Amino acid sequence: MELDAAYVMEWANLLLRWLHIITGIAWIGASFYFIALDNSLEPPKDGNPLVRGEQWSLHGGGFYYKRKYKGAPEAMPTTLHWFKWEAYWTWMSGFALFVLIYWGQASTYLIDPQVLDMPVWLAILVSLAMIVAGWVGYDRLCRRIPDERRLLLAGSGLLVVLALIATHIFSGRGAFLLIGAITGTIMVANVAMVIIPGQKKMVKSIEAGEAPDPIHGQRGMQRSVHNTYLTLPVLLLMISPHYPMLYQHRFNWLVLILIFVAGALIRQFFVLRHSGRSNWALPVGGVVALGLLALLVAPRPDPRFAGAEVPAFEEVQAIMASRCAACHAARPSFEGIAAAPKGVLLDNPAQIRRWAAATRQQVQTEAMPPGNVTELTDAERAKIIAWVAAGAPAR
Ligand code: HEC
Repeated sequence: MELDAAYVMEWANLLLRWLHIITGIAWIGASFYFIALDNSLEPPKDGNPLVRGEQWSLHGGGFYYKRKYKGAPEAMPTTLHWFKWEAYWTWMSGFALFVLIYWGQASTYLIDPQVLDMPVWLAILVSLAMIVAGWVGYDRLCRRIPDERRLLLAGSGLLVVLALIATHIFSGRGAFLLIGAITGTIMVANVAMVIIPGQKKMVKSIEAGEAPDPIHGQRGMQRSVHNTYLTLPVLLLMISPHYPMLYQHRFNWLVLILIFVAGALIRQFFVLRHSGRSNWALPVGGVVALGLLALLVAPRPDPRFAGAEVPAFEEVQAIMASRCAACHAARPSFEGIAAAPKGVLLDNPAQIRRWAAATRQQVQTEAMPPGNVTELTDAERAKIIAWVAAGAPAR
């Protein structure tokens, strides 16, 4: 048996993705839980002045009693649970996946010559620089701007700049995943560089018998609140590779911004709701943003691909054989592709007809061929679209 590299990569991809989803669920789940807990704390019944609030809850057949202290507890507990490895593993597995897919196969996934033709090394360097710059820029803003409203404006400005740059130099898909990776990096760095070090300092002062500096608690809370608003947008960006209607759009930078607006508004609604207040303007705003998004990306007949006669099936087969089958075949010949992507086979008549609807979707959004590597012409796109529109006839 021969172990080819593409096959090994496919397994690495699967295992990393599995790990990434598991740790991501654990992390975001814990993050949602603690934000909801914070928002539903009630004043302590025993009037303990050290306690900010307490909560009773019921889960899995048992009663729980949680209290949050303003600063130091009466005595340092012997075992203390920290929440950090979920975040670190989510980032490590996610970064490894990014390296494997978007750097390892940069010419397919990150670079689109129709957007900007650049060498692989440059694409890797620029995307890495943007990940670092995203965190450094955000962290600086947080430290310099004390007012949360002005910080929101500045942070949004940073997002718009990064979105504009990414969508104008990388493939739509690469740009979306990169903005997701930048956001995820900010979230994990908030944990690793601000929240956890602050907590370590708090514990140290308490152990030394001193009152912990409240700045660490405040900063930690601020960053964890920021993280909660980023969760919904980042999750959508992580699944965006399935939706070329989003990332392939001419105004995909605007799509990115609307995703952030909708996600943050919807999250804000839930945050308030957990503290017993419901502000329906928020989810309505979120839905309006999604509605605008849907209008923006609604398919319009593209004049470049319109007006073709319905071609004979043989002609469609010939186009697919030359433009698609290098990857979409039982035995792909394209380097780095081990098996037909997504199980889509375009090397025989029955399968070509089976995948007709999906093919149209991919061809009219120009998601396929990726980066148009096989140089599908506009006229050929028009023919494929006309053929599918006519019901994908077999003759
Ligand atoms: C360079 C290799 C390559 C070529 C050439 C190629 N594809 Fe793909 N195709 C892929 C990859 C990789 C994916 C999986 C993308 C992903 O991970 O979401 C894919 C996915 C698809 C899907 C499934 C999309 C989904 O997520 O449901 C369809 C349909 C498709 N391609 C059609 C085509 C058609 C039609 C052509 C020719 C016009 C074509 N492809 C050319 C690599 C290729």
